[in-house]
Amino acid sequence: MLRKRIINGAMSKRLSFFILVGLTSLCILVLIFNQRYYNIIENHLQPVISDVEIRSRNNVKQHQDPFTIFSERINLSFLEIQDVVDQQRSNIERDMENYEYPNGKYGLNISHLDDLVMEKGGRPMRSVILANWRSGSTFVGDVVNSHPANFYHYEPLLDFGIVQVRRPPLAQSAIANIYALFNCEYNKLQNYLDFGKTHPWVFNHNTHLWTQCVIHRKICWDPLFVTKFCRIFPFQSMKLVRLRLRIAQMLLEDKSLGVRMVLLIRDPRGLMQSRKHRNWCPDSPDCSDPARVCADMVSDYEVAVRLREKYPRNFKVLRYEDLSVDPFSNAKELFEFYGLNFHSNVKKFLETHTKNDFGGVSSTFRNSKAAPFHWRNDLDFEEVEEIQSVCSTAMRLWGYVLALNETHQREFNPIAKDYQPL
Ligand SMILES: *[C@@H]1O[C@H](CO)[C@@H](O)[C@H](O)[C@H]1NC(C)=O
Ligand SMILES: *[C@@H]1O[C@H](CO)[C@@H](O)[C@H](O)[C@H]1NC(C)=O
Ligand SMILES: *[C@@H]1O[C@H](CO)[C@@H](O)[C@H](O)[C@H]1NC(C)=O
Repeated sequence: MLRKRIINGAMSKRLSFFILVGLTSLCILVLIFNQRYYNIIENHLQPVISDVEIRSRNNVKQHQDPFTIFSERINLSFLEIQDVVDQQRSNIERDMENYEYPNGKYGLNISHLDDLVMEKGGRPMRSVILANWRSGSTFVGDVVNSHPANFYHYEPLLDFGIVQVRRPPLAQSAIANIYALFNCEYNKLQNYLDFGKTHPWVFNHNTHLWTQCVIHRKICWDPLFVTKFCRIFPFQSMKLVRLRLRIAQMLLEDKSLGVRMVLLIRDPRGLMQSRKHRNWCPDSPDCSDPARVCADMVSDYEVAVRLREKYPRNFKVLRYEDLSVDPFSNAKELFEFYGLNFHSNVKKFLETHTKNDFGGVSSTFRNSKAAPFHWRNDLDFEEVEEIQSVCSTAMRLWGYVLALNETHQREFNPIAKDYQPL
């Protein structure tokens, strides 16, 4: 009896031992399986999940099924974004196959595409055209954009309206927007993106982006899409007509951006004549009052003289009239300054766009049809006198000759002969 109880006791002890071991192993197995299961899911979905919204992962409840996370977080837009970006990335690699990198020329030690691509940890080559309304900046912007693999930030301050940014408080938000664009941080640019939904020209000069927007309308103004798309481009150009140099010089001071900037200048009589035909201009004195326009030109000149000395490699001045009279050699010089290859695409663009739209290689001041000079026929002498009365300082500084009377105005060369460009 006693023996039996002892045996029974030993057996039940042994039994509970085995049950315990069994249960423990089962637990371990379940744990391992769970871990595996999560790892597989995570490995497969990691890029997707982390890309969608890193923050939201922290909010996901511990015990939620990974497939629920998947279906909640991933949607067709997201897959479309991945697709378009992948496709564009291979287009860029193809376009850059035979590209001539600076390789130490122009002060640039760049020899490989990855050096220039943000998503690979590189820094893109960033070029800026600082101009004013109707000074030929759209043309110059398009010339630069004809270079391969360029992402064109056209008019970052469009949503500011018809104003000049000369000082705080507007200056802070303008500079913040420009930084966000150059760093492809479109999550900081909701206002700009919302404005673009009803003003397509925010994007439609950016040829690569717009080509995709036309096909993929749903994702075009999605900050996630534009950010990822922007980060694969090795070249980034920007044109600005609302920011004066006194503020814009901050971009040059920041060495980490590596910006190269061109100030584009035009004869104020040409500017004012061209603006007469724009209905958005007259209501804004920043655009229609020649006294303000020429005060800006004087201020730009004072800053330009200093910047030319301080940053000879990163700052340059270009007059629209000089470019127009000799587009090829001026464009070539412009590309050298930016450190960009004067690529066959650019030459092709100049060939097809300088003959008709721009007056042609022979468009000297004698040809009154040439865009920069036709104000001489389109303005009355009274109008010219009115502009000159408030612009003589700006004109002297930038090398433009005063018209003396109506006959003189129709046939003189408005470009000063002995002018020393900055
Ligand atoms: C789908 O994904 C896009 C891009 O991440 C996001 O903007 C959009 O809000 C998502 N839509 C839904 C319904 O989750
Ligand atoms: C370029 O690289 C060389 C050697 O790698 C270095 O000596 C030189 O300082 C670099 N130049 C610039 C402008 O960074
Ligand atoms: C206009 O100015 C030119 C240049 O000073 C002068 O030679 C010419 O006589 C002037 N014509 C008239 C009509 O005043």
